[in-house]
Order: sequence, then structure tokens, then C-alpha cells
Amino acid sequence: MNQSLAEHGKETDILIIGSGAAGLTLALRAADFARVTVLSKGDLREGATFYAQGGIAAVLDEADSIDSHVEDTLTAGVGLCHRDVVQHMVARSASVVSWLVDQGVPFTTRGASESNGPASSHDPLDLSSLHLTQEGGHSHRRIIHATDATGKAVFEALQRQAARHPNITLLEGCTAVDLVTRPSSSTGERVCVGVYVLNQQSARVEAIRARFVALATGGASKAYLYTTNPDGASGDGIAMAWRAGCRVANMEFNQFHPTCLYHPHAKSFLITEALRGEGAHLELPDGSRFMDKFDQRLELAPRDIVARAIDHEMKRLGCDCVYLNITHKPASFVREHFPTIYRRCLDFGIDITTDRIPVVPAAHYTCGGVMVNTAGETDIANLYAIGETSFSGLHGANRMASNSLLECFVVAFGAADSIRDKLPETALVDDIAQWDESRVTDSDDEVLVSHDWDEIRRFMWDFVGIVRTTKRLQRAESRIRLLREEIRDYYIRHRVTNDNLELRNLALVSELIINSALQRKESRGLHYTLDYPDQLDAAADTVLTPQKK
Ligand code: FAD
Ligand code: SIN
Repeated sequence: MNQSLAEHGKETDILIIGSGAAGLTLALRAADFARVTVLSKGDLREGATFYAQGGIAAVLDEADSIDSHVEDTLTAGVGLCHRDVVQHMVARSASVVSWLVDQGVPFTTRGASESNGPASSHDPLDLSSLHLTQEGGHSHRRIIHATDATGKAVFEALQRQAARHPNITLLEGCTAVDLVTRPSSSTGERVCVGVYVLNQQSARVEAIRARFVALATGGASKAYLYTTNPDGASGDGIAMAWRAGCRVANMEFNQFHPTCLYHPHAKSFLITEALRGEGAHLELPDGSRFMDKFDQRLELAPRDIVARAIDHEMKRLGCDCVYLNITHKPASFVREHFPTIYRRCLDFGIDITTDRIPVVPAAHYTCGGVMVNTAGETDIANLYAIGETSFSGLHGANRMASNSLLECFVVAFGAADSIRDKLPETALVDDIAQWDESRVTDSDDEVLVSHDWDEIRRFMWDFVGIVRTTKRLQRAESRIRLLREEIRDYYIRHRVTNDNLELRNLALVSELIINSALQRKESRGLHYTLDYPDQLDAAADTVLTPQKK
């Protein structure tokens, strides 16, 4: 049920911050045994989930195997994935897909991919009838999808189910500001008991008490100037968890997607890797292919390799973009498999059945995040982190394509089971302190916020991007330290707004990325530095621990 924060009581059993794949899945899995409230700081659909294109990696084909999916993930992750975690996620991929089909997600079926797109959600579906596409790093066709708009199909089905569930309340325009924690009276360990939430309509911060809180806030790719992500990807969950005392890991591994549309009027539009999976070539401006110089898997090498190759060629030739070419495939095939991309590119005057698509790499996915186990449990009792905001150990130094949505579902399932077990002995606290606004004023100089936001994103792109050096990272470190001081000063003197909250979080997460990158004295996966070009023999996560207050 959709409500406003004003109508909502100030307490709930489970407060989920984020309405993407992870948040909505947890809500639906938990709503049969608890009251659930889901917050989104914008429109419910404004997370990465809605924009996901390629699909969900799952072992459904007889010729495929769990072992093969596990090995491909480990290879793409360059020695840093946690094998047990990979095994756990992949082993559950088929049951997750089955659940999604039950929720009404209209995945493309084999027959439909040859005729007219997704199956009707009313068809009883045999999983072996789903069409499987191919993406980088996968040695089999194992990506289920809803043409090239998988995220939209998943989001719409889950949102529809959540909106009609009597135990689920969906709240838009509500920005979580900070977690409320306190020591447990019995064990002394820190426990999460609620959240401060900015009601954007009233501009007031309300305290919501909850027996359990789940961060499902997505990634932090907005830290970079060029990104495939929607505007809200400012790492809020990672920042809130860090401030509350949770460890974060592997923040240096920000994934750059090789192919974002390059056009002056196109903002953040991804060209799915599935295009390369279905045979598209990467070309230089003169029409020559180049991936053979970098990897024998050519266009289907893992993303870190393809993005670095493009970056190398663009710098070598001084060109603004490279090109993706699928014009050698029949026009009907291209239009049927990639209707969203076809239409969107046509809006910009590019007919992908006859024209090459100009593309550049852009920040896409945050492999690191809040440290969790496979049930999303964090360092703080009753606080969960699920989806892109978390670090479960699945992705290692480079996430394999379409493993992210899989992780959202599997960990949300695990979190629901964990909460169900703990619910009987977990009570709501009686009260939490109200938000104190006695010493703040309205902001009178918003340009400070927009300037800092632009500055961070530019130096993160220039100094902490695809190719790094220690000197560039140190320069970024001194800039971010200064900016964080200014932002802190601004924050304590002014009333909070969505913009200054995002800036505060983005600055903190950028600092965590820079610090993690400085700690890694090797090149591995997505972290490539000219000062340490070799890979160390032993692979180790970069774990950052907040200082105790
Ligand atoms: P999101 O879907 O990002 O949702 C985050 C939610 O948190 C939003 O509702 C947002 O409003 C809310 N939120 C954030 N901060 C706050 C706050 N402070 N207060 C309240 N609410 C807050 N992965 C795949 O596996 N396959 C793909 O094909 C694929 N394609 C992709 C294409 C694109 C263009 C992008 C950007 C990503 C793609 N990914 C893909 C990655 C994948 O989509 C994401 O990792 C995944 O959807 C993240 O889901 P999530 O639920 O963790 O977060
Ligand atoms: C894509 O469709 O290329 C994105 C897939 C992903 O990020 O997993």
C-alpha cells in the first residue's frame, strides 16, 4: 500500500531503506510474518534495478552446471571472490528465478525471442523454456532476461505484488538520514533500533522505530562524473552503516561498464553487454576491431579488461569514443532482442541496425560495501545490508555480468529467514530521541552543495578512475579531506535536505574508495595502478574499520 510518512505510524517491524530488487524482495519474503515499511528517497522506481538491461545469471540449461557458473565467477573476480559465498549464491539461482516467475516477471522465452518478445505473465512457465543470452566472462549462455529491459520487468512485478500486500507500506520521498543504535542491555553489543528519516514533503526529520532495519540503498557510482547509474546512487547505505560502526570492504573495486552511449544529450544510457553476447563488435573510429590485442575472449572478456582496453585505445588515439557494431546481424533480430536500445538510440538519430553505436566506459557498479554474511547480517545486531550496498564476498575484484541481481535476491531471501528466526525475541524499543533542529538554519547558499558535488565527481573520475597512480590517489585524498571538513561544517549548521544528505554521503564514500585504493599495493581486477602493475600472489580483501566514538 502506498502511503505518506505523515499517515504512517512511527514504528514498524522491519524498516527497509530502498525499493529496488533487494528491498522489494525482502519486503515480499517477510510480509507474511511481519509488518514491513519500505522507504525510497525518490520515486519508488528510481534505483539501478529499474534500469537493468542484460538480465540475471542462473544455471537453467542442462549443458550448464553450478560448478561452471562458480568457476566463471571466480575467474572474473581475479582470485578475490569467496568461493563458499559464490557457491551459495549460484546454487540458489534456479529457485530464485522460479520465485520471480511466480511473482509474474515476464521473462523472454525461447519461442518468444524468435517471435514477439516476453511471454505473457499468465503462461504457466517451465524454466527450461526461458531464453538464455550471453554476457562477458560466462562460458555458457545463462542470462535470463526480459528482452533488454529486465530490471523494469522485475521492478514492476515486485512493486505490483508489494503494493497489494496488506502488511507492506511503501513510502516515497523519504530519505533515511542516519541509523539509530544503542548498546544492548543484556550483551552490551550495538543494536539498531530505528532510523531518522527526512520527510521531503514536510522538510522535517522523523524518528521511526523498528525491530529490524535493512539497508537496500544500492551503490555509489554517482561518485564518478560519468556513470550508468541513476542520480540517487550516492552510497547512502554504506555511509550510514560506516557512521554507525560497521566495517566496509573492497571499496576500491568500482566497476566501469565498457559501453555507455556517447552522445551530448544522452545521460547515463547503458548499451547492454548482451549486445556483445549476441555478436556485436567493438571498433575503433577507422572500423578496425581491437580486442584481440588485449584478450583472447575478445569482446566477451570480463568487464575490467574490456573497459581498460577501450580506455587505452581512446587515450592512444585521442578519440572521444569507440564504436559498437551489430549491423552485420539481421535488422529484425536486433529490433526483437534489443527493442529498448533500438528505440532510445533512434531518439538520438542512431539506427543501430545500420549505424555503429558510439560508446565510452562509465562507472557502473560498486563491488565493495557494508560487510555482510549471506543472510545480509552486518556488524550491528538487527541491522541488515542487502544488494549493491553490501559486500558479501561474491564479486571479488570484478563482478561478473548479471551476478548482481542474483545476489540481491539470494541475500534478501537469507535476510528474511534470519529475521523470521529472530523476530520472537526482538522487541521494539519504547522511544528514540527526536531529531534536534534547535541549532540549525535553512541553507542560504545551495551553490556550495552543487559545487562540491561536481568537484568530487570530477576528481574521482580523473584521479581514481580506470587507471590509477599513487600520486593521483594522494591528490584525491587531500582534496577529499578538505571537502569533507567543509561539508561537515555546512551539515551541522543547516537544516538537512536531500541534496546535502547525498553530498555528505558521497564525500564519505569517496574517501572510503580512495583510502581503499591507496591500501592496495598491486593491480587486480578493477583496481589498476601504474605504480604497482603486478598482481600479488596472495589475494586479500581491503577491510576498513571505523574508529570507535
Ligand atoms: P537499487 O535498485 O539501486 O535501489 C536503491 C534504492 O534505495 C532506491 O529505491 C533508492 O531510492 C533507495 N535509497 C537510496 N538511498 C536512500 C536513502 N538515503 N533513503 C531512502 N531510500 C534510499 N545487474 C545485473 O545483475 N544484471 C543487469 O542486467 C544489470 N544491468 C544494469 C544496468 C544499469 C543501467 C545499471 C545502473 C545497473 C545494472 N546492473 C545489473 C546492476 C544492478 O541493476 C544493481 O546492482 C541492482 O539493481 C541493485 O539493486 P538494489 O536493490 O541493491 O538497489
Ligand atoms: C548489462 O546489461 O550490460 C549490464 C549487466 C550487469 O551490469 O550485470
